[in-house]
Amino acid sequence: MAGGARRRALVTGGASGIGAAIARRLAADGLHVVVADLQGDAARELAATIGGTGLVLDVTDYDAVTAAAAAHGPFAVLVNCAGIDQHAFFTQTTPADWRRLLSVNLDAVLNTTHAVLPAMQAAGWGRIVNVASEAGRLGSRGGAVYAAAKGGVIAFTRSIARENGRKGITANVVAPGPIDTPLLQQAVAQGGEKLLAAMTGATLAGRLGTSDEVAATVAFLASEPAGYITGEVLGVSGGMGCGA
Ligand code: NAI
Repeated sequence: MAGGARRRALVTGGASGIGAAIARRLAADGLHVVVADLQGDAARELAATIGGTGLVLDVTDYDAVTAAAAAHGPFAVLVNCAGIDQHAFFTQTTPADWRRLLSVNLDAVLNTTHAVLPAMQAAGWGRIVNVASEAGRLGSRGGAVYAAAKGGVIAFTRSIARENGRKGITANVVAPGPIDTPLLQQAVAQGGEKLLAAMTGATLAGRLGTSDEVAATVAFLASEPAGYITGEVLGVSGGMGCGA
């Protein structure tokens, strides 16, 4: 990208957990980070500490996402990290649950990508990193619709990689395993300590991961030297996805 201005990164879900760690890490790498989250106050507080911009944004709202991209872009880096989960067996869920899960975990990725990609194409440079989940490759007992959404993110990301490979734009997925964040603590509250034991037991490392471990991988994929990596799914999951 030409010019001396700091590259801008849009990080959705950047007010909490993994997204907050990503926002801090990208800022440390020299980017101006726009932290976009439903939790506007937390987004603004974090942004103030990293010299970025914080804003309240519902990523399921296409018009709001488009307006935010126009007001705060152009973005060289897009990290989709906003996400929600619900621990319940499929037959215990309702169509309203499905719509909510698909809307935040999948539709939102379409919204942000549609909003920022044209500017990346015009610039001839871009990095898209989507935070999916090992559930998107392996499936999830008690998270079928969440897994369907994350699997959709993987297929969508690979498609964007295919469409933009010759335009200087990479698109990759980071697939976390169990990471110690508010989202995971909420799942444990719903599913109990047995769920926690099952999650750590499914990793080769035998422990939860940290948000910083995910952020380091995202930051690498967002960097200049990662330009020959695209359409990949990289597990940060203590080996949970080994062989998938
Ligand atoms: P978290 O709950 O700590 O953070 C998620 C953030 O997304 C929150 O700040 C929330 O306000 C925001 N958000 C939710 N709906 C939104 C919306 N409609 N618009 C804007 N922001 C919205 O969760 P965590 O654990 O940091 O998760 C981050 C990502 O990592 C999610 O996509 C999640 O599915 C994924 N992930 C997390 C794993 C874990 O074990 N923590 C495992 C695998 C994937």
